[in-house]
Parts: sequence; structure tokens; C-alpha cells
Amino acid sequence: MQNGLHAIETASRDEISALQVSRLKSTLGHVYNHVPHYRAKFDAAGVHPDDFKTLSDLARFPFTTKQDLRDNYPYGMFAVPREAVVRIHASSGTTGKPTVVGYTQKDIDTWASLIARSIYAAGGRAGDIVHVAYGYGLFTGGLGAHYGAEKLGCTVIPMSGGQTEKQVQLICDFQPNIIMVTPSYMLNLADEFRRQGIDPRTTRLRIGMHGAEPWSEAMRGEIEAVFGIEAIDLYGLSEVIGPGVASECAESKDGPVIWEDHFYPEIIDPVSGEVLPEGSQGELVFTSLSKEAMPVIRYRTRDLTRLLPPTSRSMRRIGKITGRSDDMLIIRGVNVFPSQIEELILKQPKLSPHYILEVTRDGHLDSMKVNVELKPEFEFASGAEKEFVAHDLQHHIKSYIGISARIDIVEIGGIERSLGKARRVIDKRPK
Ligand code: DLL
Repeated sequence: MQNGLHAIETASRDEISALQVSRLKSTLGHVYNHVPHYRAKFDAAGVHPDDFKTLSDLARFPFTTKQDLRDNYPYGMFAVPREAVVRIHASSGTTGKPTVVGYTQKDIDTWASLIARSIYAAGGRAGDIVHVAYGYGLFTGGLGAHYGAEKLGCTVIPMSGGQTEKQVQLICDFQPNIIMVTPSYMLNLADEFRRQGIDPRTTRLRIGMHGAEPWSEAMRGEIEAVFGIEAIDLYGLSEVIGPGVASECAESKDGPVIWEDHFYPEIIDPVSGEVLPEGSQGELVFTSLSKEAMPVIRYRTRDLTRLLPPTSRSMRRIGKITGRSDDMLIIRGVNVFPSQIEELILKQPKLSPHYILEVTRDGHLDSMKVNVELKPEFEFASGAEKEFVAHDLQHHIKSYIGISARIDIVEIGGIERSLGKARRVIDKRPK
């Protein structure tokens, strides 16, 4: 450790690659020897862990998908005896059974260290008070953040999600310096502060660590302005470890740094599966480098982004997640991501970030309606002004994205509030 950083955070690229090669070799061997699913898949693809010599050889190994985890539900992907697994988490799948993940004691320690590293990178220090408003339970957000904050030497308030009024009371009374919460719920908290007649800028909060759902730069600006804090992007997914796969540095705020000593990233073409050249936009894929209980090999995250060169640390970064290869909407042949619409909504000074997209099919044609709330501090002087704002947003959507959307500006509170991840799309099209 130097200046609070681990040696690997400032190591040379050669040192990082050498560590990745040796850790990949042992992980490939570990899963081949202990997980029948991987042995069968490697054999079917005609590859053996001994074929892995350099980083580019990884492309010869088969991908792992959420479906593989479902097919081996609940414990079939474990690479250690069940007795060595000290913790289970699960993420709610869109359909069917949840995706189960397991951790050994060493995995839990690694995870806590990576969250501690992430909080440090965000500007948090031992002695800070951390309010955790990610959900506790099977979701990795709450407990993941909790153990990491303790490891850094912080005082943790394990609030979990929900109970919005009480969240505000505790933020005022317990005076946390850091809040860890989804960005959509953070904005929900802002509304509650205002409802209680409290200026959100008067708290002791200094840093927000937000993730678990896509959010835009515009939303970051909104959170920072409303609370007077630094809003930091925290990325992760259950299958890989939970939060703390990558996290942003306060000094550059230029995209989450992938903790490359524990996770090996690739960007692939989501259709062909081909590995794309560095810097290309595509689907993010991760391979575990140190996991014991449930390593994943070339796990397809479905998250669309690109790899960016190192800046504040020696490790590469990811750009904003622009969407998922599986939440993309196709409206009259045009690919639409909710995050694109969000950017345009937030360009309207009077519109709030509370919105939901309703997709329907009229005859043979898809159509989209954007239901969005007015900002609490505004009110329209006239019906004509409301028309004007709606028309302006419609015009922007048409010119930037290329689709004609209907806009419905609703009263404050008209959009269902999220208690965790916001629901952004209601797809009413017949399947
Ligand atoms: O959401 C882990 C997490 C908890 C991350 C708390 C950050 C903070 P899952 O429920 O498995 O795990 O969902 C993972 O959420 O593949 C992304 O699509 C999305 N996601 C997570 N972080 C971000 C982020 C947790 N910072 C899925 N930006 C991922 C955009 C994110 N999307």
C-alpha cells in the first residue's frame, strides 16, 4: 500500500497482464477439474486449459450465459464443495428461476477489499459514515457495500432500500458522509427531502456511489446539483461478484476502473461473438481471475459499452453503459435505448428524471409514449407552455433518435417511484 493504493493499482501494464495470465491459467484449470458443466463445454469446443498460453487464447474458450446458470440451478456451477460456500446471493431473472451465486470466505474477503478500494477511489476514508440504501438480502448491493465499507474502517448505517421518509430522517440525524444507493432512488430521496421542507444540500453527504442500473451524465449532474455531492459510478453484477467489479475515481470521474487484477474484460460483437478491437463499442464479457466458489469464464454481461485506456489507475475503464444487448427496444425498425430518451428528457429544464416508456402496437406499427413528470419546483403558466415543452421533447427524440414518440407530461407523483431499480419500460406489444 502506498498513499492508500494497492501496488497493483499503479503497476505497469506488463505486470498486470502477467498476473492475469497466471490467474487465468489457474481459474481455467480449477473450473475444468471441478465443474462438470465447464468440462463438458470445453470438451465440446475442443479446448483444454493447457491450450491457454497468452491472453488472446482466451477467445478460444466458450462463453457462459445467464442460461447456463439457470440450467445448473441452484448449485451446479459451484467449483468447491457446498460446505466451503459461506454465502449465497441471487439475482432476480427477468423470467423463471433466479440466478444463484456462491462465495467462499476468501471470495467474501476479496469482494470486501474491492468495495473498500472502490470507496477509497471515490474519495471515502476510514472514519467516514456510510449510509447503505442498496437493498439487503439476496441482492448483492446491500451486503456487498456493507462489508466493503466496514473493511475500509467506516461506520456503516445498514438502512437498506425503502422507508423513504425514514431514510431522510436518518440522513439528517446520523450525518453520513457517503451514501450508496441506486441513482433513481437517490432522486426519489431528493423529492422526499423537499416534501419534508429540507434542502438536500444541507446534509453532511459528500459522496454518492451510484449503480445497479444505467444512468446518464445528465442524471449525474442532477444528483450533484441537488445534493451538492460528488456522484460516483459504481458498476458490478452478481454473476461476476456483485458491486465493485469496476468503480470510478473521484479525481477523474471518467468511467468505472475495472479491477483488472480480479476480472478480465473483453468486448465482443453481441451477434457474432467476435472479440472486438480495443475501444470498440460492444458487449462486455468478464472472466474471473480469483474467484474460488463460482468462477465464470467469459460471462456475457449483455451490457453494451467500450473499454477505455487507463487514467487515474493502471487499469482500464468502461464507458457509460449505454444499454443492454437485451433491453434494446426496436420501434419501427429503429433501435432505442431508454438511456437515450433519458438524456433528452433531462435536457428539458422543466422535466424531472422520473419517466417511463410505454411501447404499444397500433395495427402493425409500434408506437412509443414517454410519460414524464414535471419538476416539483415548476408549474406550467399555461396549457400552451406544457404543449410547447412536450413538443420540444418530441422534436428532439425525432431528430436525435429518429422515432416519433407521444409525450405525456404528468403531475408530480404520477410515475411509480422505484425502491431499487427503476422500471423504465412497459412493453405492451403482443409477444
Ligand atoms: O446490480 C450489482 C450492483 C449493486 C452494482 C450495487 C452496483 C451497485 P445485478 O442485480 O446482478 O447486480 O445487476 C447487474 O445491473 O449487468 C448492468 O446491466 C446493471 N448495472 C450495474 N451497475 C451499473 C452501472 C448489481 N454502474 C446489472 N451502470 C449489470 C449501468 C449498471 N448499469
